[in-house]
Amino acid sequence: MDYRTLLCNIDERIATVTINRPDKLNALNAEIRADLKRCFAALKNDPEVDVVIVTGAGEKAFVAGADIAELAVLNGETGRAMSSSGQGVFDDIENLGKPVIAAVNGYALGGGCELAMACHLRIASENARFGQPEVNLGVIPGYGGTQRLARLVGRGRAMELILTGLPIDAQEAFRIGLVNKIVPPAELLDRARMMAKAIGSFGQIAVRMALKAVNITEEVPLSEGERLEASLFGVCCESPDFKEGTRAFLEKRKPIFRHS
Ligand code: COA
Repeated sequence: MDYRTLLCNIDERIATVTINRPDKLNALNAEIRADLKRCFAALKNDPEVDVVIVTGAGEKAFVAGADIAELAVLNGETGRAMSSSGQGVFDDIENLGKPVIAAVNGYALGGGCELAMACHLRIASENARFGQPEVNLGVIPGYGGTQRLARLVGRGRAMELILTGLPIDAQEAFRIGLVNKIVPPAELLDRARMMAKAIGSFGQIAVRMALKAVNITEEVPLSEGERLEASLFGVCCESPDFKEGTRAFLEKRKPIFRHS
């Protein structure tokens, strides 16, 4: 499928989605949001794709936020609608059912930080900068940022980032748990692919059940989460990949997963 604002390349069961508006630091406009929605719907149903990487075109930015020119004309009603629709796009990413890795290659501000947080894992290049600078514009994060940031790094740090609007560098983002790994810029995509390949080499039923179980953590009480965990654990135990994985360990050989 072709997109005007995205590049989507599928290779060895890994899809790489590149937001391609480098002259505006990949700022998210309505067209990009619509393309992301279509693209992730296609990837969800694509049996040839196990893992997705999201990155930004150019060397400067992952995504420098929502398009401020589009924000500037919003009123109460259109603002609410834009926020809900952006949240929907990022919820689709979080609920893709397949792992999504953000390869953060520069500025991840506002909607860019929110996009990275909707992904399941974040690898940042050394030059990445994260922040929620919306207060500078007289607005708040509106694509899930007030919710996901607090869940990822704790309420105190989320408050600081959102109330001061100040960006943090990759090291600080790593220190507070906003990113999983920092790598040199030239290695970013290779390292993201290595991680994607490693995840793709496991039985995908287990990978998908793990995503489902961890994704629900903040939405349900512990007892309900544990009930779900037990039921997803049971789903894994029914799978041929589980039989193969356990048998291979006992036979001291590498497992051959068939993703079933
Ligand atoms: N929305 C719309 N356009 C944006 C943008 C955004 N969020 N971020 C960058 N751009 C545009 C700039 O207007 C500029 O366009 P122009 O060349 O037509 O003038 C182009 O991208 C390059 O950005 P520029 O500001 O010249 O780069 P810089 O290196 O001097 O600064 C940033 C980089 C990221 C610090 C700066 O662009 C910035 O602060 N962007 C806005 C960040 C933000 O507030 N995001 C949250 C929005 S809710």
